[in-house]
This record gives sequence, C-alpha cells and structure tokens, in this order.
Amino acid sequence: MRKIVISTGGGDAPGLNAVIFAVVNSATRLGWEVYGSRQGYKGLLDPEYLVRLTPEVVEEITPIGGTILGTTNKGNPFSMPVKNLAGETSFVDVSDKIIDNFNRMGFYCHIAIGGDGSLEIAHNFARKGMPVIGVPKTIDNDLEATDRTFGFDTAVATATEALDKLHSTAKSHDRVMVVEVMGRESGWIALYSGISGGADVILIPEIPFNMETVCKKISDNELHEKDYAIVVVAEGAIAEGGSVISRGEGETGREEVVLGGIGEWVADEIRQRIGKDTRSLVLGHLQRGGSPTTFDRLLALRFGAAAVRLADAGIFNHMVAFVPPGMSSVPLEEAICVRKKVDLESDKVLTAREIGICLGDTP
Ligand code: F6P
Repeated sequence: MRKIVISTGGGDAPGLNAVIFAVVNSATRLGWEVYGSRQGYKGLLDPEYLVRLTPEVVEEITPIGGTILGTTNKGNPFSMPVKNLAGETSFVDVSDKIIDNFNRMGFYCHIAIGGDGSLEIAHNFARKGMPVIGVPKTIDNDLEATDRTFGFDTAVATATEALDKLHSTAKSHDRVMVVEVMGRESGWIALYSGISGGADVILIPEIPFNMETVCKKISDNELHEKDYAIVVVAEGAIAEGGSVISRGEGETGREEVVLGGIGEWVADEIRQRIGKDTRSLVLGHLQRGGSPTTFDRLLALRFGAAAVRLADAGIFNHMVAFVPPGMSSVPLEEAICVRKKVDLESDKVLTAREIGICLGDTP
C-alpha cells in the first residue's frame, strides 16, 4: 500500500484545508494512506508532528480558513534557525535527516502546498531524491506558471468589502482614505480590489508612482463635487525614484523582508501637499483569514485531486497548475523561477484607466 505525506508551508491562505480534503479523499479512494506533516517539515523531523489523515479527520475542513496542519515561513530545513542555551541563533541543514526519515517511513511521495519559497524548498528536496508534487498557494497570485493560486480570490473579496465600507466614512468626513493591501512585489490584490471597490487611485509595484499625479487626481475629484477619495496602495508599490518600504530587517530564519508602511507614507504626502484630511489603514492579515470563496474552494479541491492524479501517474518534481479551462502541470524548476506581474497592457489595466482610475504614473 502507498503512503504519502502532505505539508503546508509559508503564509496561510484560504483554501489550504480544501486541498488537504481533496488529497486525503482522492488518495484514500486509491487505497493509499495519507499523513500530514505539521508546521511545514516538522513531521518529517519529529514523529510527534506527523498525523494520520483519514476522510473522517478531514470531513468538515473545506470551508475553514487556515490549515489544520499549521504552517511556518521561518522553517527552511536547508537553513533551520536553532537557538543555543545562551540564546544565540545559528543555522543548520537538517535536509538529510528529513530525507532519511522520509525513506525510513516508506513514503511514496510528498505533496507540498506552498508559495514560491516553499516550492523552492520542495524543489531542493526533489533534487535530493524525494518524489515531490507542488500545489501553488498564495494570496499574492504571483506564480507565473498558474493562471491563479488559491487564496487570491478570497483576499480580493475581503479587500473589496473593506473598500465598500470605507466609501461611506470617507464621504461623510470629506476625507481621503489610503488602504494598504498585501501582494509583495505584485499588484494583483490592489488592482482587482481597487477596480471592483471603486478606488480613485490604485498604486501597484509594476508602475512607479508620482505623488503629483496622485494629488492632482484627488484635487480633480472636487471639480466633480466629490470631496473624498479612496486610494489603494499595494505594500510593494514604489514612488518614482524611491525604494520599497519595509518593516526593517526580516525576522530570524525568514528569507524575505516584511513589507509595510507605504500606505502611511502616501497619506503623509497627501496631507502635506494638498492639506486634505487623510487617514490610512493597513488591511494586513485580514486578507489571509476566513472561509475561502466558492472560487478558491473549487480551485483548491481541483488542485488537490490533480496532485493525487499526478502521483498516481508517477509524475514527480512537478507543480499542478491551473491553465484554463483545465488542470495542467509544470516542472517545479520552471514554476518557481518567474514571479507573475500585472501585465500593463491587459484589459484590467485598460479598464482601470478607462473608467477614470489613476494609476499614479507620470502623464
Ligand atoms: O505571501 C503572502 C503574504 O501575505 C504577503 O502578501 C505578505 O507580504 C506576507 O505574506 C506577510 O507575511 P507574514 O504573515 O509573515 O507577516
């Protein structure tokens, strides 16, 4: 009988549990046994973190946010932070131990659900001989090889709902509301939610922005007797000639810096340049929480079933990908090498411009 192990890595995203549900049910129907490794790879280091997953265990998890397995974005097994008794941190490579345990436990393959960072780790394990299948997850939607990642649709719905709510308060106070959303170096969440949520200005990393253009748009609103404005800023947006704003150095063991602060920066500039009453808010992890939308559930379930299909066909070191209308797969190596950026010629960008949204670029 085949035994497989699933893990969830990186930041959580709505739909992780739906993937787990689909993997467990599809694999069980093939007569396989499924195990979950908690906290990323911890279950392959310490048996206490390895859990048996049956259809009964996962019965009701599809609509639930987060991941029943837990996750981490600080646990790269090739460079794992370890603290000594004096509290000093050093980095150790525990990948050989994980490969030994994987083989000793007789696993047939590993289904790794994660974003670019986790999929790169999975690829490194594949290079060491572990049969791996990747499942693309991230609210940022920034993986080139798949049309969509699950979690994105839910994050956009949350951000759009927040923008809807901000309209009434902005209008009541004649204020500018600046909303910072997630997305790292890609502007997908900002663009989709900004267009759908009636933003006046959307600032994305793909278009360096000019504060004069932004302020002119806000002032021009008054020509149309609109005394308020909604500005959506992606956390990775950059002012012309400026640089990305982060919350200082990354945490120990974390490879990417923590982005954030651009929303407040833009709000300050608006106040100083045109004297408008301006407030900023950071939507933050609200975007990662809650129950997945129907779109994300369905996508996640399809990814999970497709991953088991690949495993059954013996196709490893690949990531399942959504290439509409169906499921496809790409070698992990290709899947992790390019970040998907907003196409500035796409109809979404054209739509934004055509309906009067300012994207901050110099005219
Ligand atoms: O990659 C997903 C994401 O939510 C990004 O949009 C964001 O920059 C980052 O993770 C936040 O990470 P953390 O949960 O560690 O603060």
